[in-house]
Amino acid sequence: MPQNDDSSPSSSDFILTRRGFLASAGAAALSFVYLPGIGPVQAKPYPTDRTDDYEGRLCYNENPLGPSPMALAAMQDAATLGHRYPDWNSTTLEGQIAAYHGLSASNICAGAGATEIIHLLAGAFLGPGDEVITAYPSYDQIESEAMARGASVVRVPLKENHAIGLYHFTAAITPNTKMMYMVNPNNPTGTIFDRLEMQDFMATLPPDILVVVDEAYHDYVESTDYESCIPYVEEGKSMVVIRTFSKAQGLAGVRVGYAVASASRIGLIAAEQPYAMVSRIGQAAAAAAMDDTQHVADTVDLNNWTKLQLQTGIIGLGLNYIGHHTNFLMIDVGVDANAVRVELLARGYQVRSGWGMPTYLRVSTGTEAEIAGFLLALEDILSVGVDEGSAPVFAMSDVYPNPFNGRCTIPISVTEEAPVNLAIYDTQGRKVRSLASGPMDAGKHDLVWDGKNHLGRTVASGTYFANLIQGEFATSKKLIFVK
Ligand SMILES: Cc1ncc(COP(=O)(O)O)c(C=O)c1O
Repeated sequence: MPQNDDSSPSSSDFILTRRGFLASAGAAALSFVYLPGIGPVQAKPYPTDRTDDYEGRLCYNENPLGPSPMALAAMQDAATLGHRYPDWNSTTLEGQIAAYHGLSASNICAGAGATEIIHLLAGAFLGPGDEVITAYPSYDQIESEAMARGASVVRVPLKENHAIGLYHFTAAITPNTKMMYMVNPNNPTGTIFDRLEMQDFMATLPPDILVVVDEAYHDYVESTDYESCIPYVEEGKSMVVIRTFSKAQGLAGVRVGYAVASASRIGLIAAEQPYAMVSRIGQAAAAAAMDDTQHVADTVDLNNWTKLQLQTGIIGLGLNYIGHHTNFLMIDVGVDANAVRVELLARGYQVRSGWGMPTYLRVSTGTEAEIAGFLLALEDILSVGVDEGSAPVFAMSDVYPNPFNGRCTIPISVTEEAPVNLAIYDTQGRKVRSLASGPMDAGKHDLVWDGKNHLGRTVASGTYFANLIQGEFATSKKLIFVK
């Protein structure tokens, strides 16, 4: 999942250029690194193959109820034709989605999850010199996508109450602003922006700026202050809305999402897409999931129940949380959240920390049993106390000496005993030398590079990148070798 678990500053506006991005990547653990010549390198979560492995997985905001029974039956049916290519451009599915929203099929582009849609949007609308404004902390895939196309990212802070402040977006507009990307409800804070605030914002927005609103968690929101932004598309505003079947529809593993926009913008988005990106099984599952309104209602009911259970438990522990419009909560544990996260992992509960919010854990709602177990584990951990800053973090510290001639030391820290890859790349994105590839103990390690490539020859003077990947984390540092 391409979300940063980083600790970059969140208090002030700043522009992330390609160069700035590399610098910030070096300072923090990111789930991707941007390599010149290659683009973003996405680290991968560990494979998890057995149902039992998923118990306690409260880190990806998945649907604990699973796919709807109707989607399951449709997928089984579709699988019998698994040897035949699907509807190449998802024309039927797009028609079904359009009918669901009361729109025309020309307003819909279906893709392999919201992830593919965000990728296509960057391809269709961003290029060198363009700026994208996005909030921080928020879902950050757009950042790597923008950077890969030579665009810059302008991050604006959230409001005091951790909600997206649309006035921050307006204040950050420059002549280069091409796109604004905002998540409503926001991930990781679970907050919404007010529909009236959005109305004012859209009324004054320059029409050449494209507003992208990611509504991945739409189905969970019950507040009357919230409104989908799809009506702005119908009004002809410069708006793209993103939806996914991964959350309330329980199809995260099936990979279906879509964009809602004007026919001309959908044309540009679809032009970026290879054919047959949504599988036959995905098309069948999504169509059936839209019909199974009962499953979404059951999902929301379960979510409301386990969220209440989580909220009650959190308050019972004397802690606070923020955001409550989604299927996750941001919990302020009051101490080093990374240390708590590592302790929870040891007890079988996967949650997330980061986003420049050092005392917060993001916890998905899960099943009743998972939440009960999580709360007991959290209580236990907090009653004993954690050693602040003691838990190994995923990080690469400054390389020394740098610039170097002869040898340099690359200090790294990894969070668990799991395969680690550390490799040196040149500025063209070519791998020059692998320094580590395999399991490593949790904790700190110093790796040494002698300025030689994998053939044992001394490399040319110049800039190189040390790239560290472990599981879903990745980070990068710049090195300068002088002969
Ligand atoms: C806000 C947001 N957008 C997009 C995605 C990616 O969704 P998909 O599974 O459809 O690719 C996620 C996943 O968690 C998300 O939180």
